[in-house]
Amino acid sequence: MIKVENLTKRYARNVAVDGISFEVEKGQIVGFLGPNGAGKTTTMRVLTCFLPPTEGKAEVAGYDVIREPIEVKRRIGYLPETPPLYPEMEVSEYMEFVGKLKGVPRVDLARRVEEACERCHCEDVKAKLISRLSKGYRQRVGLAAAILHNPDVLILDEPTSALDPEQRRETLHLIKELGKEHTIILSTHVLPEVEQTCEKVIIINRGKLVATDTMENLNLRLRGAELVSVEVEGRNGALSHDAVKQKLETVDGVSRVTFKENRNNRLVFTVESAQGRPVRADLARAVVQSDWNLIELHSMGLSLEEIFLQLMASDKAAAGGAK
Ligand SMILES: Nc1ncnc2c1ncn2[C@@H]1O[C@H](COP(=O)(O)OP(=O)(O)OP(=O)(O)O)[C@@H](O)[C@H]1O
Ligand SMILES: [Mg+2]
Repeated sequence: MIKVENLTKRYARNVAVDGISFEVEKGQIVGFLGPNGAGKTTTMRVLTCFLPPTEGKAEVAGYDVIREPIEVKRRIGYLPETPPLYPEMEVSEYMEFVGKLKGVPRVDLARRVEEACERCHCEDVKAKLISRLSKGYRQRVGLAAAILHNPDVLILDEPTSALDPEQRRETLHLIKELGKEHTIILSTHVLPEVEQTCEKVIIINRGKLVATDTMENLNLRLRGAELVSVEVEGRNGALSHDAVKQKLETVDGVSRVTFKENRNNRLVFTVESAQGRPVRADLARAVVQSDWNLIELHSMGLSLEEIFLQLMASDKAAAGGAK
């Protein structure tokens, strides 16, 4: 759905985006991450035809942003960091205005406005002046305006910044809902939000691509192996953690077992597996065959925050080494 190849954007001598390439498939919700000044907004502005690239190529639904901007704009809904709302207009008036700008046919306009407001849960404020709306509602109106022409792709620049936790939660829920019908790229600094909402992440730093992958693959790549937490309890009285540790170590593919804690005679271990060796099923079998109770067994991922910090640190080291 979106294809970016070797995209570069320079502002005078400042390189804001430096030869990045990535693809987004139809129906994905992708988190676009990077520290301040990384080039996220610039990339989004190129994708939405607000800025021409200096070099490289970007395509949306097969249309080129330079050669076919009208086709691209038809397929994209863009919510900039500060939604371009007119405070003196009423919500419905503003929506109709945007609809006309976007070339929604006059006969469809009222219905489209109705639908977009309904989908973005702002139908109850349609008669209100935009200046009277809370930030959360302004965001909803911004989103409703972005989906008014029913675009395939939504590009949302920090859609939850400046919102309180409750409004954030609602906006994310709404984005997830919209993700059922649209391909979405959203930028944010709030990493747990990305973990909850996005299937894939694109991480850039100082204009360069650092990583683009699914959360799961990033985890595996950085960890190199699976990390599993296992909680075991004896059937008749206390267990020795050494005995359990030794047993878990015999499981095929296990590279390391660490005893973590004793929670009221329930023993907690973390187990590392060799790369590409799923061990959870065998661990469960080993515990049960030893006649112990398996209280809990789950895979422990890295948090996106840990992933992000690790990637930034290695990117910094690589840049330092190149100097
Ligand atoms: N209009 C402009 N003219 C000159 N330089 C610009 C312009 N817009 C952005 N830049 C520079 O380009 C770089 C990338 O900026 P951009 O706004 O794309 O980053 P960002 O990742 O969106 O950051 P943030 O998280 O702070 O929003 C920065 O160094 C910024 O100073
Ligand atoms: Mg930005």
